[in-house]
Amino acid sequence: MSLFTELQQELDALKDAGTYKRLNYIEGPQGARVQMEGRGEVIVLSSNNYLGLANEPAVVEAGVEALRQFGAGTASVRFICGTFTVHRELEAALARFVGTEASMSYVSAWNANEALTPTIVREGDFVISDALNHASIIDSVRLAKAITKCTTAVYKHADMDDLREKLRAHQSAPRKIIWTDGVFSMEGAIAKLPDILQIAREEGAIVVMDDSHATGVLGKTGRGTAEHFGVLGEVDIITSTLGKALGGAAGGFIAGPAALCDIMTQRSRPQLFSNALPPTVAASALAAVRYTEAHPELVTRLHDNARYFRAAIQEAGFKPLPGETPIVPIIVGETALAIRMSNLLLERGVFVTGFGFPVVPKGEARVRCQVSAAHTRTDLDAVVEAFKSAGKVAGIL
Ligand SMILES: Cc1ncc(COP(=O)(O)O)c(C=O)c1O
Repeated sequence: MSLFTELQQELDALKDAGTYKRLNYIEGPQGARVQMEGRGEVIVLSSNNYLGLANEPAVVEAGVEALRQFGAGTASVRFICGTFTVHRELEAALARFVGTEASMSYVSAWNANEALTPTIVREGDFVISDALNHASIIDSVRLAKAITKCTTAVYKHADMDDLREKLRAHQSAPRKIIWTDGVFSMEGAIAKLPDILQIAREEGAIVVMDDSHATGVLGKTGRGTAEHFGVLGEVDIITSTLGKALGGAAGGFIAGPAALCDIMTQRSRPQLFSNALPPTVAASALAAVRYTEAHPELVTRLHDNARYFRAAIQEAGFKPLPGETPIVPIIVGETALAIRMSNLLLERGVFVTGFGFPVVPKGEARVRCQVSAAHTRTDLDAVVEAFKSAGKVAGIL
């Protein structure tokens, strides 16, 4: 049988199991409500557009202006002739925002994460990662192990005893690196950052935190998990995305000491062998950072909306995973049920995605709701009504 026939059979099996992902096409800008092809207006409850900046005029205009000033793109990798002044400005703004000395942009947070570990570890070093870390961190650690022959381990999710024990078992490793998400995207749980920092200090490790779901989201002014816990400036390395709260286009970054960012320029393979972030995207992200700094009330509104929705969905009879972030996952069990719930909600004008295995553990499929500052109370009330109706049809309520 040919490869492509086998692939078609895999697709058919996914369809039979009710776990095939159908793409929905959006005809206009991302926002609290979008125009979906074939459906008309729907309320979006599955976007990472946490601050509603994807269609903020200042953010869009900055991209348009950069397109005029810099043209379409870099047409080169960065060190050859692919760096624009807007990259430098963006990186300075990102470093200021997350509380580090410097930062280095990448075309995605996936790219940034994947670049980091193989560049900073050597044979004999020890890298330890939370069991629920994002796939890009997992792949980064795997890549580092394959390239450098470093030693790796996974600690049980948020289990500080397990983390400490495994670090102690590798005490003699020259470099010890702890990788954690700031906010775990499928749970909406916040990392125990103060404990992790303490353990790192005591065990001689450095902390790398992916704050993709926390940048623009956590802390009074949206600076992320470190601000949330009052430890801004204490995390050794932060990675994050520009594809969520900060405008939502694409892009990611590594933030930390200037020497680290310079080494990433010198040695990280995605910098050496792949084009830089398009200047339009860099300019929009820069405008998004400035907008967030100038409008802390957006972050307050996001926090208020998240609290409001969490209470309302519980009141309606659902049991979301507890938490304090705008990610509100509702566990339904089997993957097919999560997808059915998502389809029923779409029929009721609410766009929210169901996630199942292998994105989340078997039997813990969920509908993951994500609240935005762009939602009005009317939007959120309409979502809760749709959930009640869909939940009854699906037999969840
Ligand atoms: C925790 C985390 N890290 C990294 C990424 C990748 O972000 P990007 O879209 O910028 O590659 C995501 C996106 O889902 C994420 O949730």
